[in-house]
Amino acid sequence: MTRILVTGASGNIGRMTLKHLLKRIPASDIVGLARDPDKAADLTAEGIEIRKGDYFDNEGLVRAFEGIDKVMLVSTHAFTDRNTQHENVINAAKQAGVKHVVYMPVIHNSDSGIKLPQVTDEDIFVEDKLKASGLTYTLMRHPPFLENIQGYVGGNPLEKGVFTPSGTGKAGYACRAELAEAHAVVLAEAGHENKSYSLYGDPAVSFSDIAQILSDISGKPVPFKEVSDQAYIANLVSTGMPEPAAGFVLTWVHCVNAGEWEGETGDLEKLLGRKPTTPAEFLRASYASLAHETHS
Ligand SMILES: NC(=O)c1ccc[n+]([C@@H]2O[C@H](COP(=O)([O-])OP(=O)(O)OC[C@H]3O[C@@H](n4cnc5c(N)ncnc54)[C@H](OP(=O)(O)O)[C@@H]3O)[C@@H](O)[C@H]2O)c1
Repeated sequence: MTRILVTGASGNIGRMTLKHLLKRIPASDIVGLARDPDKAADLTAEGIEIRKGDYFDNEGLVRAFEGIDKVMLVSTHAFTDRNTQHENVINAAKQAGVKHVVYMPVIHNSDSGIKLPQVTDEDIFVEDKLKASGLTYTLMRHPPFLENIQGYVGGNPLEKGVFTPSGTGKAGYACRAELAEAHAVVLAEAGHENKSYSLYGDPAVSFSDIAQILSDISGKPVPFKEVSDQAYIANLVSTGMPEPAAGFVLTWVHCVNAGEWEGETGDLEKLLGRKPTTPAEFLRASYASLAHETHS
């Protein structure tokens, strides 16, 4: 029996990974980790044991990892001392006798020299720690989430248009649910030891492509316009986003525009055994009801 623990059970990706695991292996082989197990009560109700643990509490993590063979480390938020937290998880896994750790860095292209603040260097730190730890590892490299697009284009693009800083780069976005499904495949199956996957969605799209997709969805032209960084931040702030968060979003948009996530590996499709959801399908589902409301 292989027991698998997934951290971040109270969050999106961790919860989705656990739910996909449940479709593949018995609940008795699955454990979730949460700072507050009550926040994962829905998973307890499905028969998944939820253990309490905080990435800052090394001893608590060692206890939580007792009897566990594989750990999926769901990365914590930027700007929260990710290095200490993630290193604690790796050290505790090693101490508790865990054999295999799966981690989800954001895809980074070392040739481009582009870095996301509080993300890229911290991801490289974890990858290096994991590889040096002697633990078996699997790296599930994530592109930006399809869910992020709505944040990147801000407000109501169907009415106002898509305004982003200049650049023609495209990104191979993927949705959280399918990334989580790919995690579950790698966790439940053998054959992914010491491998790295870059989980690009397909096709990669630019912001002008997104405006075209939104035009198709709404049935009327959605203009695309390049704006200055200042105007971009001001637009996001006008939708209620705090300025520091808008500045962070801007760094992701710069990466998209520079083509940082324009790759294609087929890894996500291979792990899912089907084509991943396209940006057009995802945005149609997200915006269809809104388009209907604006027409009526
Ligand atoms: N690829 C992308 O486009 C992209 C975009 C945004 C974020 N990300 C990364 O993807 C990660 C997962 O995304 P998500 O949507 O699942 O985020 P989420 O819903 O916010 O989940 C994050 C999880 O991490 C847990 N966590 C935070 N600090 C912790 C700590 N000290 N100890 C234990 N658990 C802790 C949270 O627990 P609580 O419920 O207790 O807070 C939550 O369960 C994010 O954290 C971020 O690193 C990627």
